[in-house]
Amino acid sequence: MKVLGIAGSPRRDGNTEMLLDWCLAAAEAEGAEIVKFRLCDLDLNPCRACDACRAEGVCALKDDMHKLYPELRAADGVVLAAPVYSMGMPALPKAMIDRCQPFWALKYVLKQNLVEPGSPERLGAFLCCAGTTFTHVFDGTRRVVRYLWNVLEVKPAGELLCPGVDARDEILSQPSARAVAEDIGKRLGRRQASDNVIDLTAEVKKG
Ligand SMILES: Cc1cc2nc3c(=O)[nH]c(=O)nc-3n(C[C@H](O)[C@H](O)[C@H](O)COP(=O)(O)O)c2cc1C
Repeated sequence: MKVLGIAGSPRRDGNTEMLLDWCLAAAEAEGAEIVKFRLCDLDLNPCRACDACRAEGVCALKDDMHKLYPELRAADGVVLAAPVYSMGMPALPKAMIDRCQPFWALKYVLKQNLVEPGSPERLGAFLCCAGTTFTHVFDGTRRVVRYLWNVLEVKPAGELLCPGVDARDEILSQPSARAVAEDIGKRLGRRQASDNVIDLTAEVKKG
């Protein structure tokens, strides 16, 4: 089981990256092989809609996204960790997701398989923090992630939504976040799909 972890925040070692590291460590403890990328360390450009990928399913831009393409294709499990920015997905992970257009083209234009037919089910988990506890604060990011899972042909393996987490390290004072992130990692390591969405809003508002 190979699990690809993607840290999507521009803030290194921030709240969402901590969730990611807890999740990946738990998957590794179950025997998974871990590969981790921090998007803010990559040279990653936005999609230019040149449509080159429609011809051969390959992106014409020359940057570090070509390090991610093979990993996104080979992973048995993908974990994306990203905060809410402006009620939606921050620019970095959104750029990465837009750059998955070659996978979309492979599937829907070129009618090719993204993964070998008969391969084990691929899984995807999403870990998210937001500074506020606003109603619907996670709606934007969640919708985009569901789109990504569809393009990557992965089944959901859990979502962790942590509201009221803003300052650096604030995730450390949220009582259940670490345990939930680890539980998602454990399930991933065991290849267990799960449509569980753990939204800690009620807990945060009560506390
Ligand atoms: C540019 C920017 C936009 C943000 N927009 C929102 C927002 O719309 N709603 C919200 O609840 N928090 C918002 N936040 C707060 C982040 O979601 C929060 O600080 C989160 O913990 C950051 O995670 P990180 O440490 O992994 O980067 C924003 C933060 C920044 C820097």
